[in-house]
Amino acid sequence: MAEYETHQHDVLVIGAGGAGLRAAIEASAAGVSVGVVTKSLLGKAHTVMAEGGIAAALANVDDRDNWKVHFADTMRGGQYLNNPRMAQLHAQEAPARVRELEAWGALFDRTQDGRILQRNFGGHKYPRLAHVGDRTGLEMIRTLQDHGIHQGIDVHMECTIVTLLKDGDRVAGAFGYDRERGRFKLFQAKAVVLATGGIGRAYKVTSNSWEYTGDGLALAYHAGATLMDMEFVQFHPTGMVWPPSVRGILVTEGVRGEGGILLNKDKRRFMFDDIPPLYKNQTADNPEEGWRYTQGDKNAKRPPELLTRDHVARCIVREVKEGRGSPHGGVFLDISWIKEKLPNAAEHIKKKLPSMYHQFKQLADIDITQEPMEVGPTVHYVMGGVRVDADTQMSDVPGLFAAGECGAGLHGANRLGGNSLSDLLVFGKRAGEYAACFAKEHSAVSVNPDEVEAAARQALEPFERESGEGPFQVQHDLQNMMQDWVGIVRREEELEKALSQIPVLWERWRKVSVGGNREYNPGWHTALDLRNLLTVSEAITRAALERKESRGAHFRDDYPAKDESFAKVHMTIRKGPDGEMRISREPASEIPADLQQIIEEMK
Ligand code: FUM
Repeated sequence: MAEYETHQHDVLVIGAGGAGLRAAIEASAAGVSVGVVTKSLLGKAHTVMAEGGIAAALANVDDRDNWKVHFADTMRGGQYLNNPRMAQLHAQEAPARVRELEAWGALFDRTQDGRILQRNFGGHKYPRLAHVGDRTGLEMIRTLQDHGIHQGIDVHMECTIVTLLKDGDRVAGAFGYDRERGRFKLFQAKAVVLATGGIGRAYKVTSNSWEYTGDGLALAYHAGATLMDMEFVQFHPTGMVWPPSVRGILVTEGVRGEGGILLNKDKRRFMFDDIPPLYKNQTADNPEEGWRYTQGDKNAKRPPELLTRDHVARCIVREVKEGRGSPHGGVFLDISWIKEKLPNAAEHIKKKLPSMYHQFKQLADIDITQEPMEVGPTVHYVMGGVRVDADTQMSDVPGLFAAGECGAGLHGANRLGGNSLSDLLVFGKRAGEYAACFAKEHSAVSVNPDEVEAAARQALEPFERESGEGPFQVQHDLQNMMQDWVGIVRREEELEKALSQIPVLWERWRKVSVGGNREYNPGWHTALDLRNLLTVSEAITRAALERKESRGAHFRDDYPAKDESFAKVHMTIRKGPDGEMRISREPASEIPADLQQIIEEMK
């Protein structure tokens, strides 16, 4: 019999980034007992990698902004595959969530007259991102943590969940282990909120740190929930490319929001070469106008560097592929050029982008106030995830909720920068609120000890295999495969090759062996994470193969155009009764007439 500690909560939140903390605060405020499990230390979350700001139509910098414009921008950015109700709630509620964060102590940058300052970002019509220099996600986490810590929430740090538990159809809790000592922990809960973030570690080049192995998505899938839109993986256009040890680390879009320009090796602004028809009338066709836009000129059009991320990332790939890239396989991002425009440019850059200044100085010995950065696309975010109800965030499994990056729907085929932090706040709050309601309205759950015993046995299997391969090689091969064959530009033969490799990788995973004991054992942790990585990689590959068109972040070289027959279709993924992954095409929600009218007006 496995030994384990047992904890009882009404609501268990798995993940302690922005969505998890916001959910925990809300559930706790509703008077239920709340536990938060975090794989890492509290405060270490991918939320901090949303550096440039929180998108919310506060209209502090441009009074033409309002929720309707934000809604229409989000829908256009997502190529209308967004869940319209989620996009509506998000745009309507984001301003209140930002003000609430301010009331809880977040220190935003300010306008001259003392209001929250907002900056431009790709795809947002007006300056909309409330920010704290280039450390907005960090400030959000700090504030939520400070606020949450006084609410009597139990925090279980450095604890990884390996399976969700069920009582009949309902979720009944989760089972995992503490990373430090390797002891098992059982969490019994009437409602569970998944807020585990994304899947970046399925790829070789990513802005995500080691925690982001698709845990919430895989846990939900194996518990019977539906995944959706998994083909839409966002490559942020600007990650570091050099030196190799830091490849993938994020270079905030805030650099471009503050006037940074993209150049190829010939020092040409290649972003002027290809403006998609959708954005033609909103994009500056000369550098001077683009600069004025970044400086707040309401009559100027946006520079092409601030087109949506999918488009910018593909333009960078094109430059590199056609031999016009930088020495280390990226392009140049230059903010130092603004010294032509501003006498105090160096100080201005350090004030607006302090983290970028230090990041490049310390990691690449580059002074960004004087010279350009080398940047290239990096896997940053997954638009797909657990399918949830728009209002409550509950998945198909009663009592199981998902919020933030691991929930799907808000962003459609492509997320606008800054919409992640607002997503975390708006839907983290909603998930916490409705999880607390669910817990209050439902009776206690019971956990089947055989289920727990089986989970413990499975978790320990890698120790019992004596001559298997180590988990790191399998992880390495999976990451390379996803990067090369299911990457930013996809084609049928490569996706097919990836799909045929996945069962081979599953088989290798079933045989991995680890040495040592259970106390802080990274090999063992990786062996367990691999199940999640394989699950989400298979889902991404299957969905990418099935969507035979290009839309948003999903680009097929062999089907480079949008296809109307896919315009209103989601790829959904479920575990079949035989344990095999099943993919279906399901119709997208109709856009209600009132929301459709807003979209038309904004066009
Ligand atoms: O570029 C950034 O600062 C990232 C923001 C985001 O992903 O929302």
